Amino acid sequence: MARMTVVDRDGKEHAIDAKPGMKLMEILRELDYGVAAICGGLCSCATCHVFIDEAWVARVPKKQSDEQDLLNELPDYQPATSRLSCQVDFTEALDGLKVTIAADT
Ligand code: FES
Repeated sequence: MARMTVVDRDGKEHAIDAKPGMKLMEILRELDYGVAAICGGLCSCATCHVFIDEAWVARVPKKQSDEQDLLNELPDYQPATSRLSCQVDFTEALDGLKVTIAADT
């Protein structure tokens, strides 16, 4: 089990256990303050939008074009830190990751 810090929409930090081998979205949608992930990970709803802490951005695998296309449509898109959490594999290498849940769009 790895650890992760999740900042909810009210700015409150939560330290949680996170199981490597899952999509980041799958971890976050289990939380009361997590993501809706309406499309279930098909990269079509953007309700799994999160901001990766700047200290971790370089360690998270790069975006694919379909994820980028959807992110471009979001009003609160941040080029450096925005990700669709359904497109990010949570691995042991991300133990300690910090993410912030984006506002509902
Ligand atoms: S869950 Fe819909 S885009 Fe990620």
